[in-house]
Amino acid sequence: SAKKKLLNHKFLVTAGPTFEKIDPVRFIGNYSSGKMGYAIAEELADQGAEVTLVSGPVSVSTSNRHINVVEVESAQEMYEQCVSRFATCDGAVMCAAVADFTPVDKAAQKTKRGKENWSIELEPTKDIAAELGKLKKGNQLLVGFALETNDELENAQKKLDKKNLDFIVLNSLNDSGAGFGVDTNKITLVTKDNKPQVFELKSKKEVARDIVNKIIELKA
Ligand code: C5P
Repeated sequence: SAKKKLLNHKFLVTAGPTFEKIDPVRFIGNYSSGKMGYAIAEELADQGAEVTLVSGPVSVSTSNRHINVVEVESAQEMYEQCVSRFATCDGAVMCAAVADFTPVDKAAQKTKRGKENWSIELEPTKDIAAELGKLKKGNQLLVGFALETNDELENAQKKLDKKNLDFIVLNSLNDSGAGFGVDTNKITLVTKDNKPQVFELKSKKEVARDIVNKIIELKA
C-alpha cells in the first residue's frame, strides 16, 4: 500500500564529506558528493519521518520541508551536532565520509610559499558512528556505511560489532558505477544474522528505497 510507514518517527542522517582546516584558505577533504545521504533523507521523509540531515559541504540540496539541514564543515562539528541530537531520534543513518584525520594545528594565517617541504601533522578524528553506537538505546536503530577493498563481508561484520550498528551498507569498489560522485550504487546489506543481501546496480534513489525498506522491516 501507499501508506507511509515512518509517520511519527525521527531520524538523523549524516551526508557528504568533512573539510578539515589547514589554514584560512586550505583544507583536507574528500570526493563524497552527498548524493547517497540526501537520497536516504528524502526517502525517509517520503515515508513520513522527520529528518535532521547533518551535512558536510556539498553542492546537492533538498527542498523537502520534513528535512532540517544542519550544515557543518569539520568532523568535530559533525560529531557535536550528531551527539547532541541523537537522543530524541528513533534512528540514525551514518552516510557521511567523515575525515579520519585532521591537522593538529590550524594555522591562523595563510601559509606562504617557501623553498622547503611542508609537513602537516594529523591526528585522528572521533568516530561518530561508534559514539552513537555507545549512546544507542534498545529502541534506536543505527545504520552505517562501509567501503572495503578486500575481505569485504568479514570486515563489514567486524565493523557492525565494533560500532554496535544494526546493519551496514556495504559499497563495493569492485563494481563500476558504484561509489563517489556517480548517480548509481551497488550495495550489500550486512546484518547481525550474517545473511548478506546483495542488490543490483541501481540509481541512488532506488538504493535509498532498499535501505529505508530495511529500516522499516527492522523497526516493525
Ligand atoms: O570505520 P569506517 O570509516 O570504515 O566506518 C564507516 C562508517 O562509520 C560510515 O557509516 C561512516 O559514516 C561512519 N564514520 C563516522 N565517523 C568517523 C568515521 C566513520 O561516523 N569518524
